[in-house]
Amino acid sequence: MHPSQDSEDFSQPGRRYTSVIHAVGNTPVVRLLPLERETDGSHIYLKLEYANPGGSVKDRAARQMVLDALADGRLRPGMTLIDSTSGNTGVAYAMIGAALGIPVALVMPANVSAPRQAIVRAYGAELILSDPMHGSDGAIEHCQDIVAAAPERYFYCDQYTNPSNPKAHWLSTGPEIHAQIGAELTHVVLGIGTSGTCMGTTRYLRQHLPRVRCLALQPSEALHGLEGLKHMASSLKPAIYDEGVPHQHIAVDTERGWDMADRIARETGLHVGHSSGANIEGAFQVAKAHPNARVLTIACDRGDRYFAPMRWERDYTW
Ligand SMILES: Cc1ncc(COP(=O)(O)O)c(C=O)c1O
Repeated sequence: MHPSQDSEDFSQPGRRYTSVIHAVGNTPVVRLLPLERETDGSHIYLKLEYANPGGSVKDRAARQMVLDALADGRLRPGMTLIDSTSGNTGVAYAMIGAALGIPVALVMPANVSAPRQAIVRAYGAELILSDPMHGSDGAIEHCQDIVAAAPERYFYCDQYTNPSNPKAHWLSTGPEIHAQIGAELTHVVLGIGTSGTCMGTTRYLRQHLPRVRCLALQPSEALHGLEGLKHMASSLKPAIYDEGVPHQHIAVDTERGWDMADRIARETGLHVGHSSGANIEGAFQVAKAHPNARVLTIACDRGDRYFAPMRWERDYTW
């Protein structure tokens, strides 16, 4: 099938909201036809989380963590929301904080790209830079020190331990995938950073579509260029992470993730980030290994978020 011959009805009415926080979720799913042609009858579905208003999958977790904390009084008037973040969660906190009138402070390794820092500043968030040599784990420790020095001033959102992070995906990502693909789904492949997406979505799918095989994906190297993903063996393990939740764990190396992100942009018009490239590479391997499989993975964010100097650089020159 050529995409131009697709006979589906695309005339979904536009949605109207009172706040951007309600525009999070309900993201579209697109099939990756060029990859499918290299399989034995499999379909590969990509859920476009970059269609969220903050540009990434992290909008879901940030919204849930803030709403739950407001509801049970952990986040009160006068307090500042603080957390450490490799970038996308920071953008999501900054957006939701601006929408709800909540001050936001973000701790990031100083080598996070300049545009990423500029995005959160544009929403009015305060930026605190940690030692780049200590990576995302160093940012976590720096954030904990700041909170320990003034606990009454801060609501420490702590996406690595906050159960509202996976809950967001139990409540939204999982049910959306269920509604969009349904019983024909055979596999999901979900990259792990904090693990919120994988834990919440996998738990939902294992309960509601028990025949679906759920695979968690990590970078194969400790020093990698798949921003947003964690190499668990060499990282601080997030408290919300339970390695027994997925049926299986797979690994993708940086080069393959980057190659797939490049390929997908050129062959499908979907310009995704590198963790998404790794997710798609993982889904492609699964789709090739299982005839007539129906495999879903997610595009965590867009490729243009990485049009800036990074630690891991390949064919871009600056
Ligand atoms: C680009 C990107 N990919 C993947 C992830 C992983 O998502 P999660 O934290 O839900 O495991 C993140 C999280 O920050 C991310 O920013």
